Amino acid sequence: KSHQEKETLLAGKRILISAGPTREKIDPVRYFTNQSTGKMGFALAEAAAEMGAAVTLVSGPVSLEISSNKIKRINVTTAEEMFQVMNVEFSSHDIVIKSAAVADYRPKITYDEKMKKKDGKLHIEMERTKDILKSLGEKKAHQFLVGFAAETQNPIQYGKGKLKNKNLDAIVINNVSEEGAGFGSDTNIVTYINSKSEEHEISIASKKEIARSVLQLILQDMKDDVV
Ligand code: CTP
Ligand code: CA
Repeated sequence: KSHQEKETLLAGKRILISAGPTREKIDPVRYFTNQSTGKMGFALAEAAAEMGAAVTLVSGPVSLEISSNKIKRINVTTAEEMFQVMNVEFSSHDIVIKSAAVADYRPKITYDEKMKKKDGKLHIEMERTKDILKSLGEKKAHQFLVGFAAETQNPIQYGKGKLKNKNLDAIVINNVSEEGAGFGSDTNIVTYINSKSEEHEISIASKKEIARSVLQLILQDMKDDVV
């Protein structure tokens, strides 16, 4: 496609993207988090804006900046905050992509004062956070809903399970233990699977290029749904 065509592929579309990790507090100086840097989600936001979309980017704590004035950025810290914001924003968007690495557990108790060390073992009781993507899948109306899956084994099998279980229209599966893929890397290797179980492997490329390919596959599937 010509450059000009690419710029208008997503014109008129409102895209909601979540990116980065969440951070679950133990006390005022400590927290649980994960390896996500937000690079894939930010690349999706930038690629979508370049393709003409109006983008809302809900970001966990990352050290990335966004420059495009077509991207509205909302910063969150915890899984609970991300849940609240994504649920408020959901209805006003056409495409929703959850590339964030949401914490599955958080400390049951958050201490107001710094915990002091003691002799012997420390036990921290953890409780489940809400599954944001699953809740969006349950209330989905006109939206095209896309999840990500980070796997270290059986990526396709686990990814397909998530696609079905969370009522998604597509899933982008990420084998995070592959060379050139996953957390912090500037490149990625993914498999895109739609609700008809059609698989598209996207071989190693920059996260921006992967983002463009994923957005084009989403558009194609949205067109097919209408016909
Ligand atoms: N996700 C979410 N809310 C959570 C956990 C995950 O919205 N509390 C979303 C992620 O943003 C991602 C998808 O669900 O789009 C899959 O995340 P992943 O961690 O791969 O899968 P889980 O369902 O959490 O299962 P597990 O970690 O056990 O593999
Ligand atoms: Ca998880």
